[in-house]
Amino acid sequence: MNVQVAIIGAGPAGLLLGHLLYRAGIDAIVLEQRSPEYVLGRIRAGVLEQVAVDLLDEIGVGTRMHAEGLVHGGFDIGYGGGRSRIDLHGLTGGKNVMVYGQTELTRDLMDARAAAGLKTVYEAEDVSVHDFDGEKPRVRYVKDGVSHEVRCDFIAGCDGFHGVCRASAPKNILRTYERVYPLGWLGLLSDTPPVSDELIYIRHPRGFALCSMRSRTRSRYYLQCSLADTVEQWTDQLFWDELKRRLDPASAAALVTGPSIEKSIAPLRSFVAEPMRFGRLFLAGDAAHIVPPTGAKGLNLAASDVRYLARGLSQFYAGDSHGIDTYSERCLSRIWKAERFSWWMTTLLHNFPEANPFDQKVQEAELDYLLHSPAALTSLAENYVGLAFED
Ligand code: APR
Ligand code: PHB
Repeated sequence: MNVQVAIIGAGPAGLLLGHLLYRAGIDAIVLEQRSPEYVLGRIRAGVLEQVAVDLLDEIGVGTRMHAEGLVHGGFDIGYGGGRSRIDLHGLTGGKNVMVYGQTELTRDLMDARAAAGLKTVYEAEDVSVHDFDGEKPRVRYVKDGVSHEVRCDFIAGCDGFHGVCRASAPKNILRTYERVYPLGWLGLLSDTPPVSDELIYIRHPRGFALCSMRSRTRSRYYLQCSLADTVEQWTDQLFWDELKRRLDPASAAALVTGPSIEKSIAPLRSFVAEPMRFGRLFLAGDAAHIVPPTGAKGLNLAASDVRYLARGLSQFYAGDSHGIDTYSERCLSRIWKAERFSWWMTTLLHNFPEANPFDQKVQEAELDYLLHSPAALTSLAENYVGLAFED
């Protein structure tokens, strides 16, 4: 078959790009190696910047998000047995974030794609990308034992960190930058009311903790854990007991516990691949970069990449290649700032096994400075709600 754009991966990056292209009148196919149920079963962060909210509105997919999502004008930092509120709204001149689970957003995008009659091939096996150094790239895949070939103008690699697209980029051009943190996040989802109306990021000598939520009746909590830990060894009881130890006394007393619906351990990593364009192959989202979850930038970066890509491709079909020619550069400028912010927030709030007493004192001083400096608080808030686009 022939299409203008072949999108590899039906995560948030691929689905959002698919819909942006559809709205721009560009014909695309999405090829996904997993089933829709598997894609929806992955629990990830749930904090959207205004930019991501605007994009969903722009393509007419924001209705449920506005009805069910929670608008947050601030969050708390827990430290030394107390809590300090970061007034995002006040510090940024009126900006907020939207708390809406990635699973829900993915579902909305899948429904919108199905309603528009757009083609998505789930459980596509052995996806491979070819000839993207020329004008007519090809994508091959196998579905139900039958081989298929898609001829296209462009390939969008939205296939996540372990995908095939970055792995197919020429090794002599691709450069990668990486930091792996010696710790993990143990996440627990439960149908219990959140302990607080807003998120709480906690620095504690026993390790970081985060109180987040999916709705007023569903909570998402995280504990810093060792990468050697297993989910099995963390019974629900152990999890709740440890969370209470890391919370301030008032929150610990208010915490409502209950059976977990999901528990998982995620490693923390910072990673960037450069460039993000190889001829007619573009990388977007986790295929090109990973941030540690502190700061919740992963999904937002995926949204900003595909915003640039969709605009660049629309311009290309209108006769102007400037957008796709500057795609990599413009994405990376925003990505590195989010990388810096996520690394900084991670460094500020976690308990690093290798930290010496000097490192710990500097970390405490940094937090103390942040919480008492309007300039530092403004910088935190500006980054948390999302940096503005350059164009
Ligand atoms: N062929 C087809 N599909 C593939 C292949 C492949 N070889 N490899 C991976 N995929 C699919 C995955 O199954 C997944 O559904 O690509 C999709 C990539 O989705 P994500 O990993 O969610 O990445 P992305 O869409 O960039 O989302 C970025 O969402 O997933 C979070 O942590 C991530 O918050 C970040 C944001
Ligand atoms: C989440 O709700 O899963 C979440 C929220 C904020 C983060 C990370 C994860 O920084």
